[in-house]
Amino acid sequence: MYCESIRYVNYRNIERAEIKLSEGVNVFIGSNAQGKTNAIEGVYYFARGKSFRGAKDKELIRIGCESAELGIVFRDNARLRHHEVRLSATDRRICTKEGVNIRRMSEFIGSFRAVLFSPEHLSMVKEGPSERRSFADVAISQLYPAYMSALSRYQKILLQRNSVLKDSSAPMFNDTLEVLSCQLAREAAVIAEYRARYVERLALKVEALIDDMTCGRERATLRYGDGKSEEEYLRLLTGNTEKELRAGSTLYGPHKDDIAVTLNGNDARVYASQGQQRSIALAMKLGEGELSRDETGEYPVFLLDDILSELDERRKEYVLGGLEGRQVMITTCERIPEGSRVFRVADGVYCSDES
Ligand SMILES: Nc1ncnc2c1ncn2[C@@H]1O[C@H](COP(=O)(O)OP(=O)(O)OP(=O)(O)O)[C@@H](O)[C@H]1O
Ligand SMILES: [Mg+2]
Repeated sequence: MYCESIRYVNYRNIERAEIKLSEGVNVFIGSNAQGKTNAIEGVYYFARGKSFRGAKDKELIRIGCESAELGIVFRDNARLRHHEVRLSATDRRICTKEGVNIRRMSEFIGSFRAVLFSPEHLSMVKEGPSERRSFADVAISQLYPAYMSALSRYQKILLQRNSVLKDSSAPMFNDTLEVLSCQLAREAAVIAEYRARYVERLALKVEALIDDMTCGRERATLRYGDGKSEEEYLRLLTGNTEKELRAGSTLYGPHKDDIAVTLNGNDARVYASQGQQRSIALAMKLGEGELSRDETGEYPVFLLDDILSELDERRKEYVLGGLEGRQVMITTCERIPEGSRVFRVADGVYCSDES
């Protein structure tokens, strides 16, 4: 997959820009607060269907403007694709694929595929389970629309069930809870099945990458051991009502799961050094890209936001070496990898070194 160009109109601090990208490494260089991450965020919007920084659509519109536009032109299996989004301060957003309106943003997800590395990902191994869950959810959703639908249904049912658990004296409490438990268990099993299969394949990639990165000195494993069958989930959800009522929320299901990471047999969260944890996180991200290629036949686009300044020389070289032959967009305040196309960014204005 190769992104040819991206167009921004009144997006964040970018008034107007059209960036034509090279097939190799593209570097966005500039001082702090000039619009580098904004550019990456705009590209990733097409992969994720929303801002990766948790911003609402309205916050993406340039302050003082009524609307913003983003457009991307990319090649997928040699076919040229055009996707566009128009965000409005007052109306619904309008999304188009090859000029045709699409109803839901989720129809975008999976078409333009990208892997994002940001400094937060580097602490993915060190942090709690929710960081690893969200990594898996984003990665799996890009590959399997059925996973994304199950996840979104699961989240809706979970909210309803949690609100029911707040008040056992409400009319029809038992019946409502039972219906929701059945629905939740069904979606939970679908999610668990996808996660188990994905993590199993990712684990092989990560093990090989860490083996390579450490010249065979370290062995990393990933395991998703929390997945259960629909019957098991249902048993947990129907057999612990007292406990769940006391907690006022749902205590069992994929929203509590974790991906266990070990290094040389020990829990990496507890025993691995910060550098080792970062290496595993990098391997998970590179592995995500490998699995995307295995599944779709093409590498996704790699977006590295401010990651180089966080890595030591050895890891920097490893990552850049590992991404050879792939399309990469990098933001940086300082160093420029050799052979890349450079765009200088100042106050939302993009300028190619070639023009
Ligand atoms: N909706 C908006 N309208 C106008 N400007 C905005 C909007 N949202 C954010 N900005 C501004 O965009 C600027 C650049 O943000 P960005 O995160 O892209 O910086 P950056 O170049 O990545 O900097 P750093 O090197 O610090 O990460 C900031 O000054 C921010 O205030
Ligand atoms: Mg930034």
